[in-house]
Amino acid sequence: MARFTQTFQPLIRSILLLSVLSISSVQAADKVDLIIDTDPGADDVVALLLAFASPEELNVRAITTVAGNVRLDKTSRNARLAREWGGREDIPVYAGAPRPLIRTPIYAENIHGEEGVTGVPVHEPAKGLEQTHAVNYLIDTLRSVKPGSVTIAMLGPQTNLALALIQAPDIKQGIKEVVVMGGAHFNGGNITPVAEFNLYADPHAADVVLKSGVKLVYIPLDVTHKILTSEERLKHIAALGNTAGKLVSDILNGYVKADMEHYGLPGGPVHDAGVIAYLLKPSLFTGREINMVVDTREGPTFGQTIADWYGTLKQPNTVFWVEDGDAQGFFDLLTARLSRLK
Ligand code: RIB
Ligand code: CA
Repeated sequence: MARFTQTFQPLIRSILLLSVLSISSVQAADKVDLIIDTDPGADDVVALLLAFASPEELNVRAITTVAGNVRLDKTSRNARLAREWGGREDIPVYAGAPRPLIRTPIYAENIHGEEGVTGVPVHEPAKGLEQTHAVNYLIDTLRSVKPGSVTIAMLGPQTNLALALIQAPDIKQGIKEVVVMGGAHFNGGNITPVAEFNLYADPHAADVVLKSGVKLVYIPLDVTHKILTSEERLKHIAALGNTAGKLVSDILNGYVKADMEHYGLPGGPVHDAGVIAYLLKPSLFTGREINMVVDTREGPTFGQTIADWYGTLKQPNTVFWVEDGDAQGFFDLLTARLSRLK
């Protein structure tokens, strides 16, 4: 027996080592290498916390901020706040564009509050911003990574990525896909009768990203307006008993009020968290590849996404348009992940 072990022990050890390495490499390979571009924003904060709570699936490389819901100084402060609340001060935050490419800036303090986060007090987080501008970070990073390896979660106006693509079109090589919270088709817009806020806040940027040919997934109002809070769902989150649960239930209780009044609904959407949920569990969502264009003409359809759901125009597909989702499955995932945070 001793001879057997002596002879075969090195072989057995190397087989075991190889199997451990292959498992870890598969796990590493399965992780989404992610940059989150965001304008926090109440629902952006929820999306960030959901991402921070999911390190097995998401490698959050960085957060890049943009003006949108509120001005850039506040969206950047709020991204740092979310990072502190999520216990992820290892993730760098890069501030980006302070205004849209062309149109006059618009904001949404009426929905997100003057500080950009409803329902909770804000403070100056301990850890600061990186010195590098977000656009330069995107260019440097997307030039240096393996081809098609980085996913971008786009939770606000698309200004940063558009500027990066204009300045360095070659960065497309590093992008696997861009998952966008934005757009509206079947049931109209939320900032105008036909346009959704993120697209309306910078339609020219969305058009640049669309025409760059990067792989796009849109999570539009068509689906986010089907995934609504309820008293029970928010009570489950509050009942987690941790800081994250209290923060998210307080933020959402404040955030959804405007939509509930406007649409006369018993709950409100958590738009941006749908992007992270899609990355974590795509089976919660359904959609189809379609041709979609953005209207950049000043006027009543400014910022509208024209989603050719039935292929009427027989034009090439440009986006994967998500049209439906499992609301309870979304809240089960969100609640379970938030329970992991402090
Ligand atoms: O229309 C909803 C989108 O606009 C969300 O991303 C919200 O945060 C705002 O930016
Ligand atoms: Ca947002």
